Amino acid sequence: MCGIFGYVGSKNAPEIILEGLKRLEYRGYDSWGIAVVADEIKVNKKVGAIGDLGAASLPGSTIGIGHTRWATHGGVSETNAHPHLSSDKFFALAQNGIVENYLELKEILKKKKYKFESSTDTEVIIRLIENKLLDLSHLKEAVRAAFLELEGRNTIIILTADNQLIAARNGSPLVVGISGKEIFFSSDTLSFAPFVKKALVVDNGQLIVASNGQITLFDIKSGQKLPVVLDNIDFESSKVDKEGYEHFMLKEIVESPYVINQVLNQDPKVYEDFIRNIKKAKNVYTIGSGTAGIAASQIAFYLREFGKIAVVPLIGADTNDYFDLLTRDDLMIAPSQSGETADVLEVLEIAKKKGVKIASYVNMPGSTMTRMSDFKFMAKAGPEICVMSTKVFTSQIAWGYMISKIISGQEKEGAASLKKLAGEMEIYLDIKNNHEQIKKLAKKLAKTKDIFLLGKYQNFNIIREGMVKIIEGSYLHAHAIPAGDLKHYAITLMEKGVPVIVVVSEDVAKDDVLNAVNQVKARGAQVLAIGSKKHEQFDYFLEVADTGETSAIMNIIPLQLLAYYMAFELGNNVDKPRNIAKSVTVK
Ligand code: BG6
Repeated sequence: MCGIFGYVGSKNAPEIILEGLKRLEYRGYDSWGIAVVADEIKVNKKVGAIGDLGAASLPGSTIGIGHTRWATHGGVSETNAHPHLSSDKFFALAQNGIVENYLELKEILKKKKYKFESSTDTEVIIRLIENKLLDLSHLKEAVRAAFLELEGRNTIIILTADNQLIAARNGSPLVVGISGKEIFFSSDTLSFAPFVKKALVVDNGQLIVASNGQITLFDIKSGQKLPVVLDNIDFESSKVDKEGYEHFMLKEIVESPYVINQVLNQDPKVYEDFIRNIKKAKNVYTIGSGTAGIAASQIAFYLREFGKIAVVPLIGADTNDYFDLLTRDDLMIAPSQSGETADVLEVLEIAKKKGVKIASYVNMPGSTMTRMSDFKFMAKAGPEICVMSTKVFTSQIAWGYMISKIISGQEKEGAASLKKLAGEMEIYLDIKNNHEQIKKLAKKLAKTKDIFLLGKYQNFNIIREGMVKIIEGSYLHAHAIPAGDLKHYAITLMEKGVPVIVVVSEDVAKDDVLNAVNQVKARGAQVLAIGSKKHEQFDYFLEVADTGETSAIMNIIPLQLLAYYMAFELGNNVDKPRNIAKSVTVK
């Protein structure tokens, strides 16, 4: 969902910025652009994938900004791509976010005779700054005044013809990396990981200026200077390459045993205060969006099942009916890969204002969610580049299981279960025949158009996640049905040849699920089962080890692989499926 990048230093800015934008590609975009200072500001904007700078390449420069745009206001076009130039070409600006009151501001500016080339909300910001400049001597002050009139979650970055970078944040992420006299601005720390050791995370309501090799931080509202506190950024593995795999998705699924071990490597002492707060909270909620929303639901399942805590799972984008119920005695737990999902951040900010304690389990270092949390936990799963979350989902639910076992005083058993799980995952993923078997089934399923999934109890969220993976990667319709609900509606859709994926564990729900299998078989459905024990009603069977209480976590692996091989079979862009982004930092 858009990315911004800025650089000033001794290296060639166009190349540094191009590399930075490539490391931000996973955030989703459909056009991109770079602006640098070479005597005056030069801009190069393109629709489509980030390629080389090409014929209209930019002149050498030591300062510039770049942007990857995921169209929200205004179609995909070079005109609408960022950065946009001010009328006098003194500054160029790019935005990550949405100006919710841009039409109102545009009308006011039009009355003041300002002209607009594009249909973007971003251009309104530029004209607003130009208007403020009439009364204010310094661009930084004009930016501050204009920014205070914007409504919505926006982050802007500005390049000036007199070699300054200015950026202001409210919502979408903004981090600054420092290495000697080299200064980097970006949407995430990953994009300048190899070049810096220290970073500053800019907070909402803050503005930062890089000028003459120095950075100065301001509070936007008061204009007051703020202290600059640099953090050491330790990158698990900042190198972002496929390491021989065809796609990041397969590489990241194969890293699942590693992320389970990362959960195990956390020192249990870090949980003491958190666990105490879970136990004494009046209400405990989990919350997430997309795949992380499903992980939130599975974490709630484990906390109920093993921790005996009545946890309510929330979906980030639909929580309004809970706002009046939140109290200072409550606790909210947010699993998130990026820690920047706008839907979830909005709810967390409302909850925090009501005194709700916030806990987060995040993968990307330096995120907003981590910084705003009372209890901060990191997945340390390494960069997850594929837009479709796999290893981080696995990490999130394994973490939820571990927490639930600590709450129930069975930390040792929990750790032993996860250790066994990691070992069984390793074996499963190493067996080439497992991949071949799944590839064959993927070829069959890729030819269908409606795929149904059945599951219950610990596997209900697993089939929901399987549904999401198939939809995200194959653009086919998939539908997760609670096994017990089949007879109440979905059974009408069962007829000869309908593909039904069943995920079943040797648990209390097994008989109900097998009963549902009988019902769909009786109507001619083709059943593909994932589980540890074959039953004669299965037409196809993907066998996994029985890992007991963590069986559901084992079951997600063949489902993720199935979704991967289906997307691959269909020739889709596996790591960057159409229309979706890795991190949705706007509502
Ligand atoms: C979606 C991603 O846009 O955001 C999903 O495509 C992800 O993979 C969801 O689960 C939530 O993102 P995050 O960063 O909060 O886990």
